[in-house]
Amino acid sequence: MKTFVLGLDELSALAKEIDESLPDGGVVILEGDLASGKTSLTQAFAKYLGEEGPVTSPTFSLQQSYGEKLFHYDLYNKGLENFLSLGLLEELEKDGFHLIEWADESLREFLVSAGMPVLHIKIDKQDKKRVYTCIH
Ligand SMILES: Nc1ncnc2c1ncn2[C@@H]1O[C@H](COP(=O)(O)OP(=O)(O)O)[C@@H](O)[C@H]1O
Ligand SMILES: [Mg+2]
Repeated sequence: MKTFVLGLDELSALAKEIDESLPDGGVVILEGDLASGKTSLTQAFAKYLGEEGPVTSPTFSLQQSYGEKLFHYDLYNKGLENFLSLGLLEELEKDGFHLIEWADESLREFLVSAGMPVLHIKIDKQDKKRVYTCIH
């Protein structure tokens, strides 16, 4: 478990950690309340990879992509069953990084049991920065 305390302009340190933690890509679960900074971290990671975006997928409307290898989903408080029935698991098996905004633990347990490489990042507010706890 690693912890980072970072402001908005310091997120490249965490982007590097994500890249190094998942050398073959995989799923990053972003757990945190509304306005904790889940989308901001996704954008910082896209910048780190040198990707532009986001572009909404023509085939999977709940997905936005940044270039060829970064995919973003916002499932916050929407229910896992719903997304599984829409084909989420097939999307997550594609090469690249899949960053998912999510509200609780249940998704991690599900993906780990499905054998996927998962990095779980919890985000908490702290003054003008955020605390990012990375759980492997
Ligand atoms: N590390 C950070 N330090 C300070 N402010 C941040 C940080 N990350 C995000 N924010 C700010 O928090 C607000 C919400 O960010 P956002 O990424 O939209 O949250 P979420 O996707 O979790 O709802 C934005 O105003 C953003 O600028
Ligand atoms: Mg968001």
